[in-house]
Order: sequence, then structure tokens, then C-alpha cells
Amino acid sequence: MSDIKKNKSRKIIRIAIYSLIFIFVVIQFFPVDRTNPPVKNEPTWDSPKTKGYAIRACYDCHSNKTKWPLYSYVAPISWFVADHVKSGREDLNFSEYGTGDGKEAAEVVEHGIMPLSSYIILHPIANLTDEEKAEFVKGLVATFGRKEKKGEDD
Ligand code: HEC
Repeated sequence: MSDIKKNKSRKIIRIAIYSLIFIFVVIQFFPVDRTNPPVKNEPTWDSPKTKGYAIRACYDCHSNKTKWPLYSYVAPISWFVADHVKSGREDLNFSEYGTGDGKEAAEVVEHGIMPLSSYIILHPIANLTDEEKAEFVKGLVATFGRKEKKGEDD
């Protein structure tokens, strides 16, 4: 490569890096909702143990007691985290519990759909052993009953 060409590509790389840094800084100013609204109504858990499992593996996305990790303050990761919490709470919120909620909880835990795998990687404590999972599922059924999701044959 000629020197002129080399200089040109270096310049392009430099501009690209500066642009990325600039974008990274700018997106930090986009507002992200990390609020924990007050706890209104909690389910009547069948045992403290079941509640303990839920706190360990579910509360960050399905309650108003979310522990916001440091990385949830850094865009763009913060957007994913806030979005998970928002849609998690919309589907099932253990802090705004309504009668009849949570009937699908046993099934999603049993099938390993919940907690989300991306969450487990960053929160190994939420990774329940098979025994813990079985115990948790039992507790969830005792607390909420169970309903299989429609349209799934397994
Ligand atoms: C990292 C965040 C996160 C964690 C932790 C988490 N969930 Fe979820 N959960 C979600 C999101 C996001 C949705 C909405 C998924 C969707 O709409 O596709 C959801 C949906 C659900 C649903 C509704 C499923 C459906 O398809 O209708 C149930 C039930 C549920 N979660 C139970 C649990 C239970 C029980 C735990 C703990 C073992 C748990 N979740 C842990 C984020 C999470």
C-alpha cells in the first residue's frame, strides 16, 4: 500500500473510533426507566422457601424490588435490562399480585424458559439445580396452581 493510502485508511479508522465514542457518550443521556414502584400486593406464598427461590431467580424482572446492577446504568445494555424488567413486570408482577396470576410460572420454570438464559449467565445464583427447580415448581403449583400454555404440545 502506498503511504497516501495508508494514511487515508488510518484517518478513516480514527474517525470511526471517535464517532463510536461520541455515540456511546451521547446515548448515555437517553433516559432509562429504572424505577421500583411501591409494593402493592404480594402473593400468599405456600412457604418462605418458595418465596426465597422467587426472590433469587425471578424478582429482578417480576417484582418492584428489582436490584439494578451496575451494567444497567450503561447504555445500550441498560436498554435491554430495562426492557426485560418492563415486559417481565407486565406479564407477572409479584409486587402487584392479582388473583389468578402466576398460573404459568410452574411451567416456564419446569421447561427452563425462565429465568431468561441471558440473566442466568450474569446471575449464576439464579441458576437452580434440578433438585431446587423441582422443589420450586412444587411450591409454585401450591401457591398459584398451574395452567399449561395453549398451543404447546410439550
Ligand atoms: C431477566 C429478566 C427475567 C427473569 C429473571 C425472569 N423473567 Fe419471566 N419474563 C421475563 C420477560 C421479559 C417476560 C416476557 C416474555 C415475553 O413476553 O416474551 C417474562 C415472562 C414470564 C412469564 C409469562 C410467560 C408467558 O409466555 O406468558 C412467566 C410466567 C414468567 N416470566 C415467570 C418467571 C419466573 C417464575 C421466573 C423465575 C424463575 C422468571 N420469570 C424470571 C423476564 C424475566
